[in-house]
Amino acid sequence: MQDHTLPMNPNVAVLPPYNAGMTVARARELSGLQEFARLASNENPDGCSPAVLAALASGNFHPWRYADPGCTALRDRLADHLGVDITRIVAGNGSEEMIAAICRAILRPGDAVLTVVPSFGLHEIEPLAAGARVTKLPMTPDAGFDMAALETALKTGPRLVFLSSPWNPVGPALDHTNLHRLIAATGPQTLLVLDEAYFEYADPGSPDGLQELRNSGIHFVVLRTFSKAYGLAGLRVGYAVCSDAEIARVVWSAKTAFNVNGAAQIAAIAALDDAAWMRASVARTRAERLRVEAGLRALGFDPAPSQTNFVFFDCGSDSTEAAARLIRAGVIIKPWREAGYTRFLRVTIGTPADNDRFLAAMAGMAG
Ligand SMILES: Cc1ncc(COP(=O)(O)O)c(C=O)c1O
Repeated sequence: MQDHTLPMNPNVAVLPPYNAGMTVARARELSGLQEFARLASNENPDGCSPAVLAALASGNFHPWRYADPGCTALRDRLADHLGVDITRIVAGNGSEEMIAAICRAILRPGDAVLTVVPSFGLHEIEPLAAGARVTKLPMTPDAGFDMAALETALKTGPRLVFLSSPWNPVGPALDHTNLHRLIAATGPQTLLVLDEAYFEYADPGSPDGLQELRNSGIHFVVLRTFSKAYGLAGLRVGYAVCSDAEIARVVWSAKTAFNVNGAAQIAAIAALDDAAWMRASVARTRAERLRVEAGLRALGFDPAPSQTNFVFFDCGSDSTEAAARLIRAGVIIKPWREAGYTRFLRVTIGTPADNDRFLAAMAGMAG
């Protein structure tokens, strides 16, 4: 008998699916409810700047044209804004495309990749797809980075290190001392990828990874996104700032050609130009986060320290069951599924009404 099974890339065929959170359609099916507090994907509850919507309506967006594959106008603005040469910046279809492009650009089968657990799924999935071996170092009991373990693992010379700071899904950011410990432990054969998707939410005084890495002498990529504080998750635009133009050139070669669509390019420039809107949104989110954290503590939970637009905590029971109960109360959150963390929930900070609904549902579960 002829074997009709199509041979596929085994590295990809065995991948766990990305845990993208529940759709509203599925939540409706499960609960019979129509309206939900959508607190699973760390989106911005304030929407986006009105300047973005005005720019999109301005007539400069031509859907029938291919957009600039180099994203030149946006990268120009970013180069000014960040004080780095444009040749070091690569724009992506969300920063997630840059994670994939970095892996494609750098990794060869069998290479070692270091990250942490719990982790942002793609920091593991993309290296595995490239055939790499991934080591994940657990967080400390007080929900911090295990610096000693990271330093020891870095000494073995992994090809790539993925760390998000502030850390998705846990919440804390690396402080100056710990960031410098990491830099000191990173050898010349290693690329440090510092994923700063939640950079804008970090406490005043937290390090700016780009500033700290600038003269470090190590190979690095800093990732940032317009999906969170700027509220453009649906348009898909993020970027990589590389330590040198040669790394940027190879990451560029690994991206898809027309990766950032025309609407996203226009929107990102308008968003960047309206920093006041972004800062006001971050301030609202921070105030609500403090309220949610206090509410959870009052119910007897112990949320991890957060410098982000979400909170991570041990809910005391299986996270999938807790998430199902929350769906029936009209709240969609993200149950954590990584081994060792299956009692943890990650809840995005939403509008005050969303957060009230979440806290009321948790009170029902705690009681
Ligand atoms: C740590 C981290 N990196 C990257 C991303 C991807 O963001 P995007 O592709 O929307 O820019 C996310 C999204 O949640 C994230 O949490």
